[in-house]
Amino acid sequence: MSDITTYKLAFIGLGTVSQGAIGYIRDQADLLRDQYGFALKVVALYTARRGSLYQPAGLDLDRVLAIGRNSLDQYPDDPNLKRGLSMAAIVDQTNADVIIEASPTNFDDAQPALGTIRTAMQAGKHVITANKGPLALAYAELKALAERQGVYFGYEGTVMGGTPALQFARLSLAGMTISGVRGIVNSTTNYILTQMEAGNDYAAALAAAQRLGFAETDPRGDVDGHDAAGKLTILANVLLGADLKPDDVQRSGISALTSADIDAARQSGERWKLIADAHRQPDGSVQAIVRAERLPVTDPLAGVAGVTNALSFETDLLGPLTIVGAGAGPQTGVAILSDLIDLHRSRH
Ligand code: HSE
Repeated sequence: MSDITTYKLAFIGLGTVSQGAIGYIRDQADLLRDQYGFALKVVALYTARRGSLYQPAGLDLDRVLAIGRNSLDQYPDDPNLKRGLSMAAIVDQTNADVIIEASPTNFDDAQPALGTIRTAMQAGKHVITANKGPLALAYAELKALAERQGVYFGYEGTVMGGTPALQFARLSLAGMTISGVRGIVNSTTNYILTQMEAGNDYAAALAAAQRLGFAETDPRGDVDGHDAAGKLTILANVLLGADLKPDDVQRSGISALTSADIDAARQSGERWKLIADAHRQPDGSVQAIVRAERLPVTDPLAGVAGVTNALSFETDLLGPLTIVGAGAGPQTGVAILSDLIDLHRSRH
C-alpha cells in the first residue's frame, strides 16, 4: 500500500461540536484511509475548565468520548501522557499539525479563539474552526495570515452546522456570481418557533435547545439574533466579498414574539421565521438584515422546522438554489471532517 499521511490534531474546546467530530474521526477512519489515503490522530485536548491532555502517540478516542462532559482527569494515566498544559503550550509546543478551534463563541472580541488561531498559524499549523466569532470579526485578516504562512484554514462548521454551505458555494457554484443569500441559519430559534407552533412554551423550548446542545453558552446570542447576524456576516464576507462586521447587520430576534403572535400568523396561513438576508445593492454595497418575518406557509422556508437550517443562494447563471440540512449539534463535526479532507486534498 502507498504511504499514508497521518495528521495529528489538537482540539481546543471539547463541547458538542468537538465530541461529534471526534466520533466521526473514529468511525470514518477506514473510509479516510481507503478512499483518501490519510489517517488522523487526536494528540491533544484543551478545555478551559475540565483540564487538558497531551499524548504524542495519539489519545484513545473511545476513552475520550466516554468522558463526555466530565473532567479530563478521568482519562487513564500512561507513561507518555501529559496533563495540565496551557492552551499556548498545546498550540505551540506539541507535535500537533492541525489545531481545531471549537471553543464557545464570542462576537465581542472573538477571544480567546482569535488569539489561538493567530498563534497557531504563526507557528505554521493548519487551523480548522467551527468558531463563528473569529470568522465574523477577522475573516480577511485570518485568510491573509493563512496564505502568508502557507497553512490551511477551514471554517465550514461556522455556518449551518454540518451542512456544507460554504464549500457548496465555493465548489458547486464555481464560475457563478452570487448576488445574495437568504435563509434560516440559527437552529435554536427555529426549534423554539417550531415548538411554540406546536403549543409549547417559549421557556421550555429554549431549555430543551440548551439541553440538546444547540443553544449558545449564553442563549441570548441565539434569541436576540446575534448568532444569525454573525453567520450572516460570515456569508456576506466570504461569499459576497463584503467587509461587514456583525454590528453592520440590522438585527432583531424572536424574544418579543408571544404565543398570541404565533397564533395570529397561523390564522392568516403564515409562520414566523428568523430570516437572515444579505444582498448586493446597486451601488455595490451589501445590505444585511436579521429579523423575524411572517412567511406564507407556501414559502419553502416556512416548511423548514426544528433544528434544520436552509439557505438560498441567488446566482447569475442558475437563479436561486437552496440547500437544507442540519444546522447545529454534534453533526457540526461533519464540517470538521470535511475540512480535514479538504486540507488533505489541498496538500496532495
Ligand atoms: N446556537 C447555534 C444555533 C449553534 O442554534 O444555530 C450552531 O451554530
